[in-house]
Amino acid sequence: MTVWRAPGRINLVGEHTDYNDGFVLPFALEVGCTAVVEPASPGRDGWSVRSAQQAEPVVVRRSGLSAAPDVPEWSRYVLGALWLLTDRGVDVPALDLRVDSDVPSGAGLSSSAALVCSVTRALDDHLGLGLDDDALFALTRDVENDAVGAPTGGMDQLVSLRGEAGHALFCDMRSHETRAVPLDLAGNGLAVLVADTRAPHRHSDGEYGARRSGCEEAARRLGVPALRDVTAADLDDALAQLNDDELRRYVRHVVTEDDRVLSVVRLLDEGRLPDVGPLLTASHISMRDDFRITVPEVDTAVDALHEAGALGARMTGGGFGGCVIGLVSEQSVESAGEAVRAAFADAGFGEPSLFTAAPAAGAH
Ligand code: ADP
Ligand code: GAL
Repeated sequence: MTVWRAPGRINLVGEHTDYNDGFVLPFALEVGCTAVVEPASPGRDGWSVRSAQQAEPVVVRRSGLSAAPDVPEWSRYVLGALWLLTDRGVDVPALDLRVDSDVPSGAGLSSSAALVCSVTRALDDHLGLGLDDDALFALTRDVENDAVGAPTGGMDQLVSLRGEAGHALFCDMRSHETRAVPLDLAGNGLAVLVADTRAPHRHSDGEYGARRSGCEEAARRLGVPALRDVTAADLDDALAQLNDDELRRYVRHVVTEDDRVLSVVRLLDEGRLPDVGPLLTASHISMRDDFRITVPEVDTAVDALHEAGALGARMTGGGFGGCVIGLVSEQSVESAGEAVRAAFADAGFGEPSLFTAAPAAGAH
């Protein structure tokens, strides 16, 4: 029996930059998914998948992705690795897989990456494949893109695999090089307060994909491989070359967001955590006004956190709902949480869920 656990994540800054070959700065969470892989019970020649969060197990015969049967979407996150390994020439034997997760699903904390990464790590270990860091990352990203069909950019899988306790993970999403950057919350008397707005987010409803293809179109028109290749110094020239207002706003968000990630990393390297607050807030404003991926619940939570004295606050994750983070003093965690609750009650929104988050270990 082989057991691996992989975490969910919070992104401190760097939103919708990953699929533009840019920079992100997420950290791994304490909550995660545990995957158990065992040889199949004698006499059964297929793959069975059970989730503690799903009523029915899924049992399939062994195959590659092109011959994969129609199965419930959740099980594709698990079976995807088996299908892709088979396509790549691995003779995957009959197996039983079980998963159990405490990452809230669909909250923007990457329950899906925790699921995929725990399963992939456990399979690599159980089957003795010896995949290196890059191959593991590529496989987890391919499961989400090719086997599930979500056009996401890889940040979630990278940090779920490689996150480190006490650190955020600075990721170059072109080279996939990563560096752990100290995020000493307690040493600065600070906390990251998370407000799960419970406004449901969906990638598949097309808004995420529309942003991604808009960014790719802008890069094509600008004659660069990806928006990563437009620097903050080039921004005005790039904007002047585009005659489409929507694409101009996308470019402004991505280019300034990459620049904010680099600035936040510099400040953290210099031990100046409290100074990152205004950059987090600037990131939110850019997502709200330029990239246009926020919703009223999210903007209300960010405003309430500011009014309660947060050093900075922003939506985290793909957008259209999900979670907001506030960088707050340890003493003000309770009052800032109350401020969000009160603002939600005033606006007639449902009850938000509030908790603090600190950087934890990646897959182990
Ligand atoms: P997020 O990753 O932000 O939580 P997604 O919509 O990307 O949101 O992923 C959520 C989906 O991942 C769920 O709808 C389900 O298909 C799958 N999933 C995540 N965790 C589990 C689990 N423990 N068991 C079964 N499916 C899961
Ligand atoms: C996530 C997606 C990531 C990243 C993020 C926005 O939901 O999975 O790859 O693009 O949105 O920064």
